[in-house]
Amino acid sequence: MLRYLPDSFKIRRFTTRQLVAVAIALLVVLALYYNALPHYSDGRRWTPPPVAASRTPPAEWQRRADQVKQAFLHAYHGYETHAMPHDEIRPLSNQFKDNFNGWGVTLFDSLDTMILMDLNDEFRRALPVVEKADFMPSPNVTNKHVGYAPFFETVIRYLAGLLSAYALSHEPILLQQAEKLGSMLSPAFDTPSGFPLFGVNIAQAQGIGSTTGILAEIASCQLEYTYLALLTGNKTYWDKADGVMQGLAQADLTALGGMMPRRWNVETSEPTDQFLSVGAATDSAHEYLLKQYLMTAKSDRTSYQMYLRATNHILTHLLYLSDKRGLLYVTDVSRPGGGPSHRFEHLSCFFPGLLALGADQLDLSLDDLDLSTLGSEGLRSYEILKHYDLRALHKWAAEGLATSCYLLYADQPSGLAPDEPPPSAGNLWIAALERWREGGQRGSPPGLGEKPTVRFTEEELKSVKLRAIKAERRDYYLQRTDYLLRPEACTVESLYLLWRTTGDPIWRERGWAIFEAIERETKTPSAYASIKDVLKSPAPQLDDMPSFFLAETLKYLYLTFLDEDPLPLDRWVFNTEAHPFPVFTWSSWEKEKFGIGKLPS
Ligand SMILES: *[C@@H]1O[C@H](CO)[C@@H](O)[C@H](O)[C@H]1NC(C)=O
Ligand SMILES: *[C@@H]1O[C@H](CO)[C@@H](O)[C@H](O)[C@H]1NC(C)=O
Repeated sequence: MLRYLPDSFKIRRFTTRQLVAVAIALLVVLALYYNALPHYSDGRRWTPPPVAASRTPPAEWQRRADQVKQAFLHAYHGYETHAMPHDEIRPLSNQFKDNFNGWGVTLFDSLDTMILMDLNDEFRRALPVVEKADFMPSPNVTNKHVGYAPFFETVIRYLAGLLSAYALSHEPILLQQAEKLGSMLSPAFDTPSGFPLFGVNIAQAQGIGSTTGILAEIASCQLEYTYLALLTGNKTYWDKADGVMQGLAQADLTALGGMMPRRWNVETSEPTDQFLSVGAATDSAHEYLLKQYLMTAKSDRTSYQMYLRATNHILTHLLYLSDKRGLLYVTDVSRPGGGPSHRFEHLSCFFPGLLALGADQLDLSLDDLDLSTLGSEGLRSYEILKHYDLRALHKWAAEGLATSCYLLYADQPSGLAPDEPPPSAGNLWIAALERWREGGQRGSPPGLGEKPTVRFTEEELKSVKLRAIKAERRDYYLQRTDYLLRPEACTVESLYLLWRTTGDPIWRERGWAIFEAIERETKTPSAYASIKDVLKSPAPQLDDMPSFFLAETLKYLYLTFLDEDPLPLDRWVFNTEAHPFPVFTWSSWEKEKFGIGKLPS
């Protein structure tokens, strides 16, 4: 600023005119700042709630980050000792299992976490195993995927694990192996539509699977294949990823408010059901719409349009408030206009983090929407949403949902959340929000703010009647009580993103409470175990430690407690298994080569 002031400003005595000029300049700056904050359509400004100072001192956060690193070492050393190079350790019996191709999924999924945690010895020991992998069918595979590699899981765990470890270390073997694997999995795309099939018979270089595909499995490979294209310079990979995005973009979703449903025909690229959800079977497809746009340095406008349309529909149709505690939750409908199931899936707990990320990285405006693509359902949402600042709305939804996800943990005696959707009942959030807006916007928006935890005591757990009463006060009933060490169960992912985007230490503290529960309930002498019943403490354990516990849960917790930010959100994008890819710095020739300039905008 000072550079632009006249030289006379440096003289000690100012004229009245100069003082007036400075005052005006200050007012302009203030006005610009005020304008940059979210506004309601009537011009009133939304101010974020005050951020409470953390009572936990910085040295303690450092100690907590260290404890997560120790947890990673405990889990990984257990795997190395008892299971490497097989897929996963069985943390109670110290046996191994080969449930994801038998190439060592825990090792591949853990590489980038090791690099982030400076675990050089572990990383060096892992590289020869990576180098030896030939990605051929293993006779040891014990689950149903015999004779083929499941495309989605192999992409998000193995391929993404290699690519992100390469991005962080530049170790050439990682990229060589990523290219080999990416190429071997390519036959999955050999469909008339370019939508990938369920799996690949690698030995015969053939895709296999039924003509009906699941959205999340079809549409969660764009980040990986786009980044592979950039690293190798091989346009084939870009074409495959982009083919999926274009196929989805061309489908007529006007009756569904622009939201992609759960099942699709992989030959015709047409949807085959009308089930709308952000939970199981659909989740990461919505995630990749935003993340593809962010990773391509906001070049892929198609994916941004689709993200805006989908989130508009979710904000107006799938968000509900529970009766008693006013918990915000996201649910599903099986057809447009149909009633919601009111299920609130643990898997959809990634969604608050996604909303927070979008609101943090983008201006998010309805002006960006191509209205001609909306259809009457989409226009109806548009008419409601135009009264709000879209960015503020995404932030509110993110905070309310993340608090509900956290309470699913805090409510249970074990401190861990159940894996299956706890049914609830409630009313449309947008309706409550409209009443709040029309009533003069007094207090915080509905669904936000502190909520009490409602825990069962031992006595209540024994009494069916007491349990039912308490369940009513909690707003939900439990169907299944297991906890599969999921993060995607992604509550910790959302807590991380809310911490980074709001700076409010409450999200960090909540992450710490979850980590303490993990330490207390899931640790075994050799690793960590999934839990059979979250209503008990100590909780009965299962003989299972999924690789995503090291790839996601511990990585996000570590990054949440770390004071420095090695992966700023404007420069890194996490895939759905928490593997970070760098935001592209495209050169114009690369854009031209990949045909980016030709994408409809
Ligand atoms: C199958 O498991 C056995 C026993 O651990 C191991 O020696 C062998 O190398 C495995 N085969 C493959 C192809 O992974
Ligand atoms: C690009 O990748 C495809 C698919 O793996 C492969 O067939 C082709 O040979 C590659 N092209 C180059 C120039 O490496």
